[in-house]
Amino acid sequence: MKNPFVWFILLLIAGSLAVLLPEHAEQAESRRNATAMTGGDPEQGRIAIGYYGCGSCHTIRGVRGASALVGPPLTKIGARAFVAGVLPNTPDDLEHWIIDAPSIDPKTAMPNVGVSAPDARDIAAYLYTLR
Ligand code: HEC
Repeated sequence: MKNPFVWFILLLIAGSLAVLLPEHAEQAESRRNATAMTGGDPEQGRIAIGYYGCGSCHTIRGVRGASALVGPPLTKIGARAFVAGVLPNTPDDLEHWIIDAPSIDPKTAMPNVGVSAPDARDIAAYLYTLR
C-alpha cells in the first residue's frame, strides 16, 4: 500500500468512525432510556407524530416537515421540567397532555387531535429522546 491516496481514504474512514460511533452509542442509550421511562417505542412515536400532524404546530427534531412555530419548539422537551408550564414533566403527565391538552388547561391553543393512549406512549418515548 504505497499509494498515499489509499492511506488518505483509510484515515478518512477511521476519522469518521471515531466521530460517528460514540454519537451512535449515545443515541442508542437515549432511546433505551426513553423506552424504559415510558414503555413506548420511540421510532413508532416518531411515525405517529407525523401521522397526527404535530409538526403543523411544532418544530420537532428528527421529524420531516415539523418546523412550524404555532406552538413552542419541542427541542429538548426531554430535559424540560414542566409540560406547557402547567404539569411536571413525567411520562404520565406528558402523555395526558398529548392525549387531551384542553382538559388540563382549558385556555391552551393546543387542540385534542384524538391521539390514542398507546400512540401517546410512543410519542412520549420519542419526545424523551430529545434532550
Ligand atoms: C394547532 C396547533 C397544535 C397542534 C396540532 C399540536 N400542538 Fe402541541 N402545543 C400547541 C401549543 C399552542 C402549545 C403551548 C401550549 C401552552 O403552553 O398552553 C403546545 C404545547 C405542547 C407541548 C408542551 C410544550 C412545552 O414547551 O412545554 C407538547 C409536549 C406538545 N404540545 C406536544 C404535541 C404533540 C405530540 C402533538 C401532536 C399529537 C401536538 N402537540 C399538536 C399547539 C399544537
